[in-house]
Amino acid sequence: MPEIAALHALEILDSRGRPTLYCTCTLTSGAVGAGSIPSGASTGRAEAHELRDRDPRRYRGLGCQQAVHNVNEVIMPALKGLPCADQAVLDAALIALDGTPNKGRLGANALLAVSLAFARACAADQRQPLYAYFSALLGDMPRRLPRLTVNLFSGGKHAGGQVAIQDVLLVPLKPTSIRESLAMLYDVYQTAAELIFERYGMRLLTADEGGLAPNFPDDETMLRDAVTAMERAGYRPGEDLGLAIDVASSHFYADGHYHLNGQNLTGTEMIAQIERWTRAYPLISVEDGLSEEDWAHWTQLTAALPSRVLTLGDDLLCTNPERIGKAIRLQAATALLLKVNQIGTFTEAAQAARLARSAGWQIVVSARSGETEDNWLADLAVGWHGDYIKVGSITQSERLAKYNRLLMIEAETGLSIPRV
Ligand code: PGA
Ligand code: ZN
Repeated sequence: MPEIAALHALEILDSRGRPTLYCTCTLTSGAVGAGSIPSGASTGRAEAHELRDRDPRRYRGLGCQQAVHNVNEVIMPALKGLPCADQAVLDAALIALDGTPNKGRLGANALLAVSLAFARACAADQRQPLYAYFSALLGDMPRRLPRLTVNLFSGGKHAGGQVAIQDVLLVPLKPTSIRESLAMLYDVYQTAAELIFERYGMRLLTADEGGLAPNFPDDETMLRDAVTAMERAGYRPGEDLGLAIDVASSHFYADGHYHLNGQNLTGTEMIAQIERWTRAYPLISVEDGLSEEDWAHWTQLTAALPSRVLTLGDDLLCTNPERIGKAIRLQAATALLLKVNQIGTFTEAAQAARLARSAGWQIVVSARSGETEDNWLADLAVGWHGDYIKVGSITQSERLAKYNRLLMIEAETGLSIPRV
């Protein structure tokens, strides 16, 4: 059984130029694994605690030197020599060492960096690809590739708030390969770029995740323009391609109302608005249609949406098994947006995935708005049979790293995306 010989973290920068963690793990067998972790901006309140230095003189308080110190000076001495039979043993040791419910002492970023580096080191030790290692954590084998959901237009916190909806995403429905999906997406993305230049005089400037972010007059226009771009590129909306939205509505919910395009909507009115969008546009998924604490309305939303449309929980669930359990009991969602750093270790994220599956939910494996060039998310989506993967747009290397890795996994395994 290999033991941990060394752990070493380093502060590096993410796609927004903000500090994050890179960590290396060496096992006594000589196997080495390393990886870097992402960071969100549109975060849920129930997320595990991301430790930042809060020193305003350095990176405006966003430094990660304390988290790095926690890996190198607290976690490393405690875990060095620990016979790490598997990921569950390592992650349990990390959780115990932190000792808080939200990983606030050592930081979820410190814990995940170690959890990831260890996973890579074990995969190297066992001479298996990372996706195979991840699927073994669920006691399974890779069976499929995830369907892509790709950011076309951005609003909300990722684009300066010109419209409320955070993401309008394209979802290739016809293709059964990543290769064909990406070719189709490139067509529509470029057509949309021409369209918004024509309509809003905007050149190709992009938001945090690479989505186009012109000055749309309202949310409805953003959806309409997405459909126009699909049609102009020669595709049939609802057949070749569908749409998904991340409403991220916790971020415009205040005083019991949804502040959408100058209106103050009640929960019931917001549900009616979303339902109308699902009838007018080829939507296959609505993420965070309601605020993260508006549980009662989530149950109504799930009942109101047609069965072809996922009621997808991000901020609502925070990849947290307790919150997922509550949502299953209340029938408050039908799909989990899985972000490992919302909970902090791979073992807990695997528990979240198992729970969602046990309720017959679908799983969307998701990146964060602050990403790095690391590509482990692609392996995770394949290893855990993600129905969908959400990485952002098809620009910017921190996004492309994941798509390129999917192309490699596709070539290596011969797996495909199941037909809809
Ligand atoms: P975040 O946003 O990574 O900024 O939290 C992504 C999302 O809301 O899905
Ligand atoms: Zn979201």
